Formats: sequence, structure tokens, C-alpha cells
Amino acid sequence: MSNKFPKDFLWGASTSAYQVEGGNVNDWSDWEKNNVEKIIEEAKKYWRPWQQEKFPEMFERDNYICGKACDHYNRFREDFDLAKEGGHNAHRFSVEWSRIEPEEGKFDEKAIEHYREVIQALRERGIEPFICLWHWTNPLWLGKEAEKNKKFPFYFSRYAEKMIKEFGREVKFWLTLNEPTSVIASGYISGKWPPGKKNIFTALGIYKNLAKAHDEAYKKIKNINPDSQVGFANILHSFEVYRKNNWLDKIAVKVGKYFINEKFIKLTKKNNDFLTVQYYFHNRFRFYKKIINKKSEVSDLGWEIYPKGIYQIIQDLKKYNLPIYITENGLADANDSKRTKFLKEHLFWVKKAIDEGIDIRGYFHWSLLDNFEWDKGFWPRFGLVEIDYATQKRKPRKSFWEYKKIIENNGL
Ligand code: BGC
Repeated sequence: MSNKFPKDFLWGASTSAYQVEGGNVNDWSDWEKNNVEKIIEEAKKYWRPWQQEKFPEMFERDNYICGKACDHYNRFREDFDLAKEGGHNAHRFSVEWSRIEPEEGKFDEKAIEHYREVIQALRERGIEPFICLWHWTNPLWLGKEAEKNKKFPFYFSRYAEKMIKEFGREVKFWLTLNEPTSVIASGYISGKWPPGKKNIFTALGIYKNLAKAHDEAYKKIKNINPDSQVGFANILHSFEVYRKNNWLDKIAVKVGKYFINEKFIKLTKKNNDFLTVQYYFHNRFRFYKKIINKKSEVSDLGWEIYPKGIYQIIQDLKKYNLPIYITENGLADANDSKRTKFLKEHLFWVKKAIDEGIDIRGYFHWSLLDNFEWDKGFWPRFGLVEIDYATQKRKPRKSFWEYKKIIENNGL
């Protein structure tokens, strides 16, 4: 078997508008200001001593205010120069709805022009743009529980229609929503993210509302530009029972798999030209309790590193018979001591799935740059490129160059 990936394989990295651009005003920027004290208080209980020691900035207010972020809104050209230098031939990013439609029904031509320049800058560097329309942030006019709003599908698909009219000629790949299940779980069940609700019934309704938003956006995009390729960015966890023949563990795995990995695909089934994989989590369930083996390696966030999980997930997607893109996969690793191994091992399993006949067409590492990691703020470092937030200086990490070698070789 050749060690090469398919000929036109897309290699790149992902970012999202709120996490890198800076200067955004939306429901997240509102929420973080009102919750920063509470998060700092909870950090003392939540993070392990080694994490508190290694990342003392988790107790500082500035860590949790997105503010200027990486100033990518102004420095996108410099950042795409780096992507090009790293050999990337594709880049996934999101456009910020709150900039594009700051008032209901009124589109901001300057913001649209900005993203036109972003797309052009990618094209000039030979990088294929992969656009995501919604990476969790909402314009303020949508109100506090935006995803619950019955008119969300109407508003969202109207915005999607505007985007395809503007950029349909330059952009082939479209992601409607990023990880609907993450927002449902953290915004409406655990209440850790905006809008901070804890109501399982509301959460179930949000699945439907977001699926409708996806479906309507899909139809509008395809109507205007049938050649576009449209999907949504899906988080998928890998699962395993802790006790081999225990039915409680088995039930927990079944329920987890259904609600996290499958439900949204099922709800939107006919309206996906491709499927995606965003892989970060391995769940070894002792009933509903997650067990991390003592010997397992973990990231700076304490998340277990389990490369084979990506293969298991891909196997589960085989039955849908659609092309697959890995649109996110990465880890928080400030010292960059684990990222290269992480990349190689995950790509090993991706390649194995390809060799077994699964149609996987691209891999986007999360992330190109260190960025604002939502409720955890700036301390988790996910970037192939390190950011010094005081000076906004960019510095490619060692893994950046290792990833470049893999890309140049189109294989491991
Ligand atoms: C999200 C990113 C996030 C990453 C790491 C993904 O679920 O789409 O926005 O930064 O995970 O937590």
C-alpha cells in the first residue's frame, strides 16, 4: 500500500472568526463580560494543580475577554502567508454574522468587502477557501437565546443566501453550522456557555430548530449555485465501554453516540453533500462517568489523546456513503511537545481508513493560530503558530514545520 494520501487531498488548518479576528461585538462578547468573575472563581476548583501552576493566567480577567484576539481581522494576509509557507492548500475559516448583518435585515457592505478580500488573499496564495457561516456567535439583535428563536432558520438562511450571492463564484465549499451539538450541550444543558440555560426539553427543541436552519440554508445555497458543496461541521466523540459486558456502560455509550454523533446527521440527512469530522474526545464510559486511563497521554486541557478514535468514528460514518472532510482535529499543547506525534498518529489512522476504501478528502488541523478558546480564554494553546498576545508576533512552532513535511510528501 502506498504511503501517499489521495492526489487532490486538501491539507490545511481551521480558525473561527470570533476566536482570531478581534473587535467583534456579539452574544459571546456580551456573555464573557458578565461571567468573567464567575469563571475565575470556578477555575480554582475545576483545574488540576499542575494546570493552575503552568497557566497562572487562568486567574486573570484579561484571559477571558476576547478583545483583540489575534488581530487576524487586520493581519489575515500575514497569517495566510504563513499558511502558504506551511504548504497548506486549503483553509477553513468562518465569516462573522454580527459584522455582516449588524442590524436585522441590513447588510454591511464594508464587512462583506472585507471577506471578499480574505477570500481573494487565499486564492492568490493557491489556498482553497472552506467557509463556515456560523461558528457559534450571534448578532445581538437576535436576542439572548438566539438558537431557540423560532425565526432563527429564517434569519440564518437569509444571511446564507446573501453570502452565496456575494461569494458563490469564488467559494465552492460551504459549512452552514459549526458543531450544533456542542452549543446544545454547553449552552442549553450544562449552562456553561451562552445563553447559560439548563433545560433538556429546550435542548431537544434546539436540535430541530438548528437542523431546520441548516436545511433551509442548504436549499438556498444549492438553488443559487448547484455546484457548491455544502455540509455542516460535526463534532464526533469516540466511545468505548469501561467494563466489557456491562449493560449500563453499553447504554451510556449508545445514548452518547446517538445524541452527540448521529442525531444531527439524521435530522439533516438529505441535505449534506459531504460529512465532516471534528475529533477531540474519547469517552470511556463506566455508566455515565468518563474514565481516563492512568497511562493515557493528555493535552494541557486534560483531554485524553486517543488517535485510534478518529478511525472508529470514520468507520461509523461509512454507512452514509458521502465524502468526508476532517474539518477539525488538534490539541492544547503550549510547549509543542506532543503536537507532532499527535498529528502523525491521527493521520496514520485517517490513512488507514482511506486505504480501506473510505472517501476522505481533506484534513484541517485545529488550529492555524493560538486563539481564544471560548470560556477557557487564551491560556489553551492550539496553534501550529504561536501568538505572543502582547506584541501580536507570530512564531511557527516545530510542529508547523513537521506538518509541512507531511503535506509536501502528501503522506507520512
Ligand atoms: C470548536 C473550536 C474549539 C475547538 C477546541 C471545537 O469544538 O469548533 O471552536 O476551539 O473545538 O476546543
